[in-house]
Parts: sequence; structure tokens; C-alpha cells
Amino acid sequence: MRMYDIIEKKRNGKELTNEEIRYFIDGYTNGEIPDYQVSSLLMTIYFQDMNERERAELTSAMVDSGDKIDLSGITGIKVDKHSTGGVGDTTTLVLAPLVASLGVPVAKMSGRGLGHTGGTIDKLESIPGFHVEITSEEFIQLVNKNKVAVVGQSGNLTPADKKLYSLRDVTATVNSIPLIASSIMSKKIASGADSIVLDVKTGSGAFMQKLDDAKELAEAMVSIGNQVGRNTMAVISDMSQPLGNAVGNALEIKEAIDTLKGNGPDDLTELCLVLGSQMTVLAGKAETTEEARKLLQENIRNGKAFSQFKTFIESQGGDTTVADQPEMLPQADYKIALPAKKTGTIAEITANDVGTAAMMLGAGRATKESVIDLAAGIVLHKKIGDNVTEGEPLLTIHTNSTDIEDVKEKLYKSITISDTPVESPTLIYGTVTE
Ligand code: URA
Ligand code: CA
Repeated sequence: MRMYDIIEKKRNGKELTNEEIRYFIDGYTNGEIPDYQVSSLLMTIYFQDMNERERAELTSAMVDSGDKIDLSGITGIKVDKHSTGGVGDTTTLVLAPLVASLGVPVAKMSGRGLGHTGGTIDKLESIPGFHVEITSEEFIQLVNKNKVAVVGQSGNLTPADKKLYSLRDVTATVNSIPLIASSIMSKKIASGADSIVLDVKTGSGAFMQKLDDAKELAEAMVSIGNQVGRNTMAVISDMSQPLGNAVGNALEIKEAIDTLKGNGPDDLTELCLVLGSQMTVLAGKAETTEEARKLLQENIRNGKAFSQFKTFIESQGGDTTVADQPEMLPQADYKIALPAKKTGTIAEITANDVGTAAMMLGAGRATKESVIDLAAGIVLHKKIGDNVTEGEPLLTIHTNSTDIEDVKEKLYKSITISDTPVESPTLIYGTVTE
């Protein structure tokens, strides 16, 4: 087999065989096939696309390029959730204890990563004592005992994806549905879950800004998951404005606690119920999403979801008094309100700009070496469709520095106030099951 022939075949719009796909992934991972040939193939895939079988094989080959996490020691159907990313997305912190309270095993591997705020692990580490330095044996024992645990990423997962992603980044081939779908799904599948719920975001703050593109990506990922034997569903949800009210690390922990107690923001609560219902059905703990939703709502009402959160925090060394007294979480020195400059209705809160503002306050990492300020962030008091009077606070900035004129300017630019009524955006655009 020759890489040249594979490139030529795809260039001419033909399907690649499974053997050809394996040949290129294996050869690229072990360094036998050079970047220039792979760049060329990536560009032909960008223009010629791949069919469903090719996409599934590409994903499986990437999974097989590295380590696979073995969760077989955990009793029950392990369901994982993945979001394509957004601003202030507090869902994992709510969903993990919420669905675990119904007996769904949640074995969460998470990262720190770069971004507007820290990752799930950084957020959890704003709870004094909480740590993720546990062995894989302890991790599995904890999930069996408490139904939920979080561990840092370890092992050499999907090295083919790491190499391909860096190459796509510099060859204008990131934005290709077969390449994005296989990249995301390979990492989820290598992480060992039996079933996967995907939250594909759309809107100005999302990776896929247009609804049609988000749908196409969701369908591609669901098809891959189901072809490789993992029950997969997707929800398409709005990211035209930040989700919930809080954007920050400790601030999002507080928001998650509020939501688990039934006092969270409407949009965050609703998205968690929609995603949680799908996870519950996939785990076999309910027949329908309607039934699952009732069970989840019941566990918020009766305090079981909140008590599951405390058990989870305590089992990983965290101080559970923060659950009842969130003021014990890291607090910023200054809480500065941003007053509205005019009266009207909120028409726009561009998620990316709010995210960038949070990052400028220190809530996120710009480089791997950056140190996160766990207390810093933003709490919105208004969302799209809300009325506001001149002088009323639009949001509160939580900061340890008073030198924040550029942050204020960024936030003012991100918010548009209209003189005419504006409807709040649709939160859930649909679900994809096959
Ligand atoms: N996220 C990923 O993990 N991979 C992509 O290709 C795009 C976004
Ligand atoms: Ca939030």
C-alpha cells in the first residue's frame, strides 16, 4: 500500500477501504508517513468528505492508536457527557451528582485545559481540600461505592488525534465535519464510556455557529458512536449567550450548588434536565426521557441530588461545609457592578466576549503555565430578552485587581440594549438519536 495512491483515490472522490484508513493512521502515528502527505490527504477529505463507514473506521483507528481506559470494573452502564464547548457551561458540575443520585455510574475523566475559565477539575479544586490525584483502582472503587468520581486525564489517549489536530490547525483543515466528528468521538470512545450524550452548541459563542452545521456535526457523531457500539445521542443547544449566570471557577461551583438545590438559573436547569434525562435513559434507569425527567426533578426537590454532591465532594477530600455555606469558597476582593447606560431590552450578550473578559480577570488559562484565579469571574444579572433600566447593574465583576477598565469596556461592547422588545433565544434546538 502506498500513501500516494490513497491521496489520489480520495482526490478523485472515491471511498477509502478500512485497510487504507488504518494504514494512514498507523503510519502517521508511528512517524512513517510524513506531514506533507497527511496534509494533502486532510485537504482532500475536506473537499471530498467521507461516508459514514469511513468516518467510523477513521475514529476506530484513532482510538486504537493509543491507550484505552478500561472501566469494566464499574458495575452498570457508564454514560459520559461531552459538550463541544462554550462560555460558563456549568452542566458537568450539576449533571454528575444529579444523574448519580438515580444510580447512574458517572466515571468522569476531565482536564484542565486552556480557555475562558478552568476545566471541570479547576472548578472543583476551588473547594478546599478537593483533589483528583487518585489511582485508577481508587477511581473505580469510588464510582462503585458512590456512583460518581472525577479523575484527571492520564495515559496516552488517541495520539493520532493529537498529531492530526496540530497538523489541521496549520493547514486550514480544522473545519471539516468528518475530521471534527472523528476527533471528538475518538477521545470519548478511548475514555471507556458505554454510552455517550453529546451537547452540541450553536450560536455566536459556539464552535459551530450556524444551526445547520451544528446539526450536521451532531448527526455525524451520533452515527460514529452507534456504528462502533456505543449508544450515542445528541442535544443541540444554544450558546448565543453564556449559559446560566456565572462565568468563573468558584462562581460556577456556587451556581452548580444552587441548581442542585433547585434554585439555579432557568436555562442551566433546563439544559441539565434535558441532558440528564438522556443519560438516565441510556443508562437504563428510565424507559423514556419524560419519565427520567420526573425522576431527576424529584431528586432535586427531595434533596437527594444535593446530598449526592456532598458525598462526592467528601469522598475526594473536599470540605463539604462549602455546600451549605458557599461564601466559604474563594472570594474576590472586589465585587464591581456594571450599570446599564440606557433603558431598554437586552438584545445581545456575545458569549465569546464575556468569556474573554473572564479570562482577562484571571479566571482562565492563556498558556499551560498560567495560574488561575479561582475567585475571579462574572455574574450576569440580565440575559437576552430581559428589561433593564438605566443605572441598573447588568452584571457583577468579581476581581482581585481594580485595574479593570479594559474588562469593563469589553463587557459593555458585548452587551447590546435595544429600544424594542426582544425574545429570549431558543435553548434546545433538537435532539439527534440516529
Ligand atoms: N474539538 C476537538 O476535539 N476536535 C476537533 O476537531 C474540533 C474540536
Ligand atoms: Ca454558568
